[in-house]
Amino acid sequence: MTTEHSSYLEDIRLAEQANAAYYQSSEPIMSDAAFDALLERIAAFEEAHPDQVVFHRLFSAPGGGLSTEGTDVSHEVPMLSLDKVRSLDEIESFTTSMVALGSPVTVEPKLDGLAISIEYRGGRLVRVSTRGDGRTGEDITERVRSISNLHGVPYVVHPSVELEVRGELLMSKSDFATSNANRVAAGKTAFANPRNAIAGTVRADSIDYETHATFIAYDVPGSSEDVNAAAAHLHALGFLPSSDLLGDVPHTAERSVLEAVEKFGVAREHDDYPYPTDGIVIKAVRADIRPKLGSTSRAPRWAMAYKYEAKKATTVLRDIVMDVGRTGNISFTGVFDPVHVDGSTIARATLHNFAFIHDRDIRIGDTVEVYKANDVIPRISRSFPELREGSEQPYDPERVSPKSGSPLDTSEVIWRSTDPADSLGSWVSYAVSRDCLDIEGIGGEIAAALVESELIGDIADLFGLTVDELTALQLSEGRTLGARNAAKIHAQIETAKTRPLARVITALGIRRSGRTFGRRLAAHFHTMAALRAAGVDDLQQVEGVGPERARLFREGLDRLAPVLDKLAAAGVNMGAEPDADDRGARPLNGMTVVVTGAMTGALSNLSRNEMNELIERAGGKASGSVSKKTSLLVCGEEGSSKWKKATDLGVRIVTPEEFAIMVGDLV
Ligand code: IVH
Repeated sequence: MTTEHSSYLEDIRLAEQANAAYYQSSEPIMSDAAFDALLERIAAFEEAHPDQVVFHRLFSAPGGGLSTEGTDVSHEVPMLSLDKVRSLDEIESFTTSMVALGSPVTVEPKLDGLAISIEYRGGRLVRVSTRGDGRTGEDITERVRSISNLHGVPYVVHPSVELEVRGELLMSKSDFATSNANRVAAGKTAFANPRNAIAGTVRADSIDYETHATFIAYDVPGSSEDVNAAAAHLHALGFLPSSDLLGDVPHTAERSVLEAVEKFGVAREHDDYPYPTDGIVIKAVRADIRPKLGSTSRAPRWAMAYKYEAKKATTVLRDIVMDVGRTGNISFTGVFDPVHVDGSTIARATLHNFAFIHDRDIRIGDTVEVYKANDVIPRISRSFPELREGSEQPYDPERVSPKSGSPLDTSEVIWRSTDPADSLGSWVSYAVSRDCLDIEGIGGEIAAALVESELIGDIADLFGLTVDELTALQLSEGRTLGARNAAKIHAQIETAKTRPLARVITALGIRRSGRTFGRRLAAHFHTMAALRAAGVDDLQQVEGVGPERARLFREGLDRLAPVLDKLAAAGVNMGAEPDADDRGARPLNGMTVVVTGAMTGALSNLSRNEMNELIERAGGKASGSVSKKTSLLVCGEEGSSKWKKATDLGVRIVTPEEFAIMVGDLV
């Protein structure tokens, strides 16, 4: 600040004092001539430095410089409100009717501050007033003057200007941050938000810290200028016109209006906008249609406000429901008292996974915040522990599938069910595993991706997958399976068509039918056709199959009839076990065989299930334990308990190498 400027400020202070003394007490402090000289100096400085002029009323009102603070101000042209709508349809039809009248529309933020009117006489700011009830407001000139950094309000404009400008007095985000910091430094409590801050600042009797605020102009009452011309005019005088804020050209199409509304909604939500807003305003650009349209007692018909729906609400969490998804993933859903969020009433929302609930200590009975993000899926974001009353229950579910009761795989953040009875994903993972169709390369992730992408609806669909489909398969984080992996998996699937019947039966994943059951059924019925024709009684002829298992299996066959048809059509082996026709000639015919210890030699790669399959291919019956009925123990570990028992019972014991010779080319 220059010395010249500080003596200018000192002159103003003196002149105001002199004025007060003259009008309010009977003791003038200076002569009329001295007072006139003072005013002349002030005027000369202001003419030379229009950019440094500060706000005072020495030249304007009678008794210039005297406070009229708090007195009524009647608004000759009422300060109206705006009609608010909540649906995009209404924006669309408003736009349509304005465009039909030949007027494009502008879209601008609905600013959330204080509506004020600023009046200029002879080029000087003379009065600031509140909106009040629209007809009568209150003079707040001095209070606005005490805002040390007021952006967007010129104190002098061209001397010929007689003007009233209306707009919103507010604090931008940075105004708010600075003012609040100064306020706190001055020992006062911080304002909660910009809207409270501006209202509190204007209401305060005196402000002894530096405040920043901004005025955005949106209306010149009685003006016959179009929105654009008025904005250019206001801009030239030093105001910040609202129609410039979004930098959008006037819109002539409904679609572009809706796009602008949508775009601003996103910015607002991301807190990406410098001013506090509570919606958006849509206005007809052309001034000449306004008088024709007129106003209701409340609001003009040439403008409207759209309020974005609140995307957040709080409610009370009543329950958490665990479910198995199509991919076998376990989901957690919060059930709460119904709340209205973003245009709909909701009573359930995702809680993602157990870690989400646990990390945030979300308890049943807690007050929680529910929101809808841009994808419109309702989510629970947090709980409010400070609102707990004591009856809230921490959530710690049993780690078992809510459908089948089988234990869950909880080794990763997303818990999974691996039980085929639970879901398509679990079923596929199970069906492709080593003891079933043995399709190497399809693990839990790819199984889930196949289900997620809807490439498969059951296990038979695996056989219809093309290399291209597999190549493009979307995995997590934007990865795809790729051509090399796809080709490998495709070849594996082809090979899987020739798996023994027992494995195909096992792959069906029917409840309580595991690998042993699959082998016994295959050995007993020989073909899928015979198995499918079997009644509950026939099924009970198979060793170890009681009425309940038989019933479950029969039900499973009926339910899976379409899948079985598809498997057959795809060329999957539905036929006899390789040697089923010449059973008489098989090496282990009539023998019950038990395996113990690690296999060696030609058998070293076989899993226990594969050993059992081999035994049964060779005409024997595989068993897990040694008894009097045992005919043979294949022993990879002398000294094991099975070996001891076999020795005691005099059961014949062979090494894996000897056994390989016994079964010959069946290995
Ligand atoms: S135009 C009717 N434009 O919202 C006079 N008003 O709820 C023309 N407001 O009283 C008003 N932002 O205080 C207009 N961009 C904007 C606005 C806006 C906020 C206020 C204004 C009005 C209230 C109506």
